[in-house]
Amino acid sequence: MAKVRIYQLAKELGMENKELMELLDTMGVEYKSHASTLDEETAAAVKEIVAEQKGLEEKKKAEEARAALPKRPPVVTIMGHVDHGKTTLLDYLRHSRIAEREAGGITQHVGAFTVETPQGKIVFIDTPGHEAFTTIRERGARVADIAVIVIAADDGIMPQTKEAIAHAKAAGVPMIFAINKIDLPRADVDKVMQDLMKEGFVPEAYGGDAIVVPISAKTGENVDELLDMILLVAEMEDLRADPEAEPRGVILESKRDKQAGVLVTLLVQEGTFRVGDYLVAGDVWGKIRAMIDPDGKQVKEAPPGTAVQVLGFRDLPEAGTAVEWVPDEVAAKHIAEERQEERKAREQEEAERRKVKSMADLL
Ligand code: GTP
Ligand code: MG
Repeated sequence: MAKVRIYQLAKELGMENKELMELLDTMGVEYKSHASTLDEETAAAVKEIVAEQKGLEEKKKAEEARAALPKRPPVVTIMGHVDHGKTTLLDYLRHSRIAEREAGGITQHVGAFTVETPQGKIVFIDTPGHEAFTTIRERGARVADIAVIVIAADDGIMPQTKEAIAHAKAAGVPMIFAINKIDLPRADVDKVMQDLMKEGFVPEAYGGDAIVVPISAKTGENVDELLDMILLVAEMEDLRADPEAEPRGVILESKRDKQAGVLVTLLVQEGTFRVGDYLVAGDVWGKIRAMIDPDGKQVKEAPPGTAVQVLGFRDLPEAGTAVEWVPDEVAAKHIAEERQEERKAREQEEAERRKVKSMADLL
């Protein structure tokens, strides 16, 4: 770039001459009038500064736009070792009796529930503690805003506690530790605190910043305190979503029901899904025939931060898959078919590779 006159550069950058001259003043560049020429180096420096300012402005605008959005409920995933009391805690919160209804009292899937508190809604996601369900725990951590790690005070930190912590860490999700079963005579809260320190989490009571709340999911002792902590962390996270944006969410679970057909639990993350909407999850499409909220009530709309059961998927979408809104059936089918073909091609390629490899192994 050769020399350039101030008014030329101002035009190029979409600025007023006066604006550019003010910038040159702050840069300590001398000039006579807007017709003065700037050397190559100065012009390049000006461009850089203007680009930087624009970036900052855009960032500020984006932040302002976000701050104007309504708040959404936090999504809290309950994680921890098998039988440490995750489902019992949610039961207590919902005043229901889910733990007793489960096969052998073991949670096998991701359940989602909404709990109303005086300070607003909280979406809770239950996860299984059994070692067989690693992927479900991982998925649970990924969709969470906050992870509550439940540790039984009579058992301490166990393998799946460590795994849960690792998942939450990997997902960059803030953790709250709930030391459960403090009603038991053999409960040893201090030992769990020591265990936590060994894992690198220093409880607030010991001068650190790990949030630890001793509770009894059975008697409800201190559960309110746990809720307060959840709401506090949620407040700091400043969770917002646009209910008018193009809807998107994630599949928490999907199963086939003899009567209802394909039943899908969907967590809405942005926008509002409505009955009649078309959606695509991976290579499966659907039209929302009905939506049922966690209390079993039919709803017509699902805004951000709600978990609903959706009827209307044509097939079983895989849990953890992102859900997109699409305008109509043609688009829904088109996208799903495209992805089915892509998947088939991938699978075929993989099979070919394996065949070639096994032939090579034979030679
Ligand atoms: P998985 O889903 O299989 O990982 O287990 P979970 O963590 O959901 O445990 P669950 O809530 O099913 O509780 C396991 C057992 O511990 C049940 O018998 C509960 O009644 C009992 N339990 C849970 N919380 C408490 C508690 O605070 N105090 C006492 N005494 N028992 C509890
Ligand atoms: Mg459970």
